[in-house]
Amino acid sequence: MTPILVTGGTGTLGRAVVRELTATGRDVRVLSRGTGGDLVTGRGVAAAVADVETVVHLATTLRGRRDVTATRNLVNAGTSIRHLVFISIVGIDRIPIGYYRGKLAAERIVAERPHTILRATQFHDLIRTVLAGAAMLPLMPIPRLRAQPIDVRDVAARLTELATGDPRGRVADIGGPEVKPLRALAAEYLRANGKRRRTVEFSLPGKAFRACREGGNLVPGNPAGTITFERFLTS
Ligand SMILES: NC(=O)c1ccc[n+]([C@@H]2O[C@H](COP(=O)([O-])OP(=O)(O)OC[C@H]3O[C@@H](n4cnc5c(N)ncnc54)[C@H](OP(=O)(O)O)[C@@H]3O)[C@@H](O)[C@H]2O)c1
Repeated sequence: MTPILVTGGTGTLGRAVVRELTATGRDVRVLSRGTGGDLVTGRGVAAAVADVETVVHLATTLRGRRDVTATRNLVNAGTSIRHLVFISIVGIDRIPIGYYRGKLAAERIVAERPHTILRATQFHDLIRTVLAGAAMLPLMPIPRLRAQPIDVRDVAARLTELATGDPRGRVADIGGPEVKPLRALAAEYLRANGKRRRTVEFSLPGKAFRACREGGNLVPGNPAGTITFERFLTS
């Protein structure tokens, strides 16, 4: 069996996916700048995808346009790919921000090959990072939004199941087990870290914030994740 290539396999999600795939006995190859490749410049990509049939594409530069270039370079170089698994984000077609526009464009490029696309809600790690930043201030500013954060271990388990099967096109979106106001998640963050802060909620003008207010970032009907934010914080 040829190795499975995981792009971004050194990242937050990538490390969990590499662990899961390895646990199923699969041989895993990682492509990231840290391992000597660069999807944006194309350096080392041909060598990384050579003879590979399954690719799990997780790498992100956190810039929409660069992610499109990265995905284009991967797809062009990967002539042997029989299954391209792509992690995307819930609501990218409803929430108009640049990074999400890049994800949508990348999904279209991925669809040029036999593929499976999984859209997930925000990871616990991202929510924790945002809350940790806000908690640096004496009065903690919190967007008046709800979130449904998911643990990367849950996403990794689903991606592993998908990557070891046949291409399925776009599959059902995946979200965490609870939908909660960010203010409630902030309270859990503060409690878990033994901090006391007053919080103040704010709203922003614009279509992106409104789309999130209306739940464009949620999949309440499909809470496939099992690990709550509170458990993530204490584990
Ligand atoms: N964070 C969330 O809440 C969330 C939610 C849903 C979906 N997603 C998606 O899940 C994926 C993984 O997110 P994450 O939070 O795990 O990201 P992350 O921790 O920032 O990891 C990004 C990975 O991409 C690699 N990378 C960056 N630039 C690269 C380049 N030019 N060429 C090759 N590799 C490159 C990084 O390694 P090097 O720095 O060594 O290159 C790293 O392994 C992303 O596609 C993201 O859009 C994230």
